[in-house]
Amino acid sequence: MNQTWWKESVVYQIYPRSFMDSNGDGIGDIKGITSRMDYLKELGIDVIWLSPVFKSPNDDNGYDISDYQKIMDDFGTMEDFDEMLDAAHQRGIKLMMDLVVNHSSDEHQWFIESKSSKDNEKRDWYIWKPGKDGKEPSNWEAAFKGSVWEYDEGTDEYYLHLFSKKQPDLNWENPRLRKEIYKMMNWWLEKGIDGFRMDVINFISKDTDYPDGKVAEGKKYGDGSPYFMNGPRIHEFLQEMNKEVLSKYDTITVGEAPGVTPEEAKLYTGSDRNELHMVFQFEHMGLGDGPEGKWSNLSWKLTDLKKVMTRWQKGLEEDGWNSLYWNNHDQPRVVSRFGNDKEYRVESAKMLATCLHMMQGTPYIYQGEEIGMTNVQFDSIDQYRDIETLNAFKELTSENRMSEEEMMASIYARGRDNARTPMQWNAEEHGGFTEGTPWIEVNPNYKEINVEKALGDQESIFYYYQKLIKLRKENKAIVYGNYDLLLEDDEQIYAYTRTLGEEKLLIICNFTKDSTLFTLPSGIEYNSSELLISNYAIGEGTSIDSIEMKPFEARVYKLN
Ligand code: NOJ
Repeated sequence: MNQTWWKESVVYQIYPRSFMDSNGDGIGDIKGITSRMDYLKELGIDVIWLSPVFKSPNDDNGYDISDYQKIMDDFGTMEDFDEMLDAAHQRGIKLMMDLVVNHSSDEHQWFIESKSSKDNEKRDWYIWKPGKDGKEPSNWEAAFKGSVWEYDEGTDEYYLHLFSKKQPDLNWENPRLRKEIYKMMNWWLEKGIDGFRMDVINFISKDTDYPDGKVAEGKKYGDGSPYFMNGPRIHEFLQEMNKEVLSKYDTITVGEAPGVTPEEAKLYTGSDRNELHMVFQFEHMGLGDGPEGKWSNLSWKLTDLKKVMTRWQKGLEEDGWNSLYWNNHDQPRVVSRFGNDKEYRVESAKMLATCLHMMQGTPYIYQGEEIGMTNVQFDSIDQYRDIETLNAFKELTSENRMSEEEMMASIYARGRDNARTPMQWNAEEHGGFTEGTPWIEVNPNYKEINVEKALGDQESIFYYYQKLIKLRKENKAIVYGNYDLLLEDDEQIYAYTRTLGEEKLLIICNFTKDSTLFTLPSGIEYNSSELLISNYAIGEGTSIDSIEMKPFEARVYKLN
């Protein structure tokens, strides 16, 4: 296995709108990020993934870009950006930008031109089709509900948008468009940024016949995903991007890839493929999805989680590379989802961190995860801001697919705004995030859960993450060791080993609020064991052959 810096790094994701507001307008900004650079240094992370900061009308909080080379007014100026980049680099922190090129905003100059007439030279930079029998060109449903096709009266054609109608899909079949995107990417890399996280990058190549998708029972629209996920030319496009851009720089790249399997991930990340370094897969995030997708919010089993994680750990063991994450700006807070955000918030947040950070791959921490921030439950739908949540609430309740109560319960459990409430810095008003009125309300638990408090408590979740990061730097087996699952059928304990040559680590995590007995399976030979980290105080010389694991307890041993 090749050893390289981006495999040994820990990434921290910043969602700028919710991180730190420096000018009192209630919206986080770039100067706010710069002001917190020392905090990130203290945590010990190596790379920042910055969610989009480009010019945008904010239909989807910056994932709808109207100019790829300008900074959003709400966030500041290009000068602010350059200062932030310097501040990061001075501290040895790299910066990865969000590349959103499956679609742009409908307010991008390219789209304005494309829409202006059928013979505009940029018409073909987006995906335009005439109607079929007086209806949309295909029956596909958009991620934010409704059809993926929007009719344009001016030119009597439809354009494709896999997300909102203000996010028209770019036409990657057009070589001039691709060239323009590569030029833009080179411009950012020349400026000194260190890589890209690529938004839904496995959606950029479509089946250009646009066949109808299967319609599930009781549904109005069809599922187009077989025709746009991992599409026919995807690897050709990424290899071209690699040749024209990425191969010229020492970067870190991660492609967001919903619906990808480990076999496909190898094609994206294999060492001789010249595409990407790693992908974000979604199988573990989809646990509990049902007929209404995540809004069904069904229960999940630990054995299912283990199956998914193990499939990925083993699948990319020989070639390719994993990203490791529990959280991002689209997912609920992990301590609320897979842990216990009440009585055992601290213990379970540390346990979850242990379970993930000891795996093979590059770990990603989402802002606030390192202090154990939790989901939020706003009383009214009016307090929510996310386009996905608002559209789903409207459609599912108006079509009587879910009641308002059911839908609110699902939003509490799975809605994206859980991750987007402002970062909780201290116990002052609005958690110290802003001196103005925040664009979305702060989680009311900010007096209990905040950075200031975490930094003042040696036993805090923050310092636990700091230690996990440090351990990764000191133990090659944490980065490169092979993963092997133990106790496959256990519904309480997630245990595994990591092996690199002579080095062996044993990781034991109790995922429940009940104590449970861990018995070391036969076949694991060792002379002595050294405790590397744990979330409870443990007496010296404790045997590891049989351990009474406390609620949400986690331990990592080095076996000699
Ligand atoms: C994935 C992003 O993470 C999400 O926030 C966004 O809404 C969609 N892609 C569309 O860009």
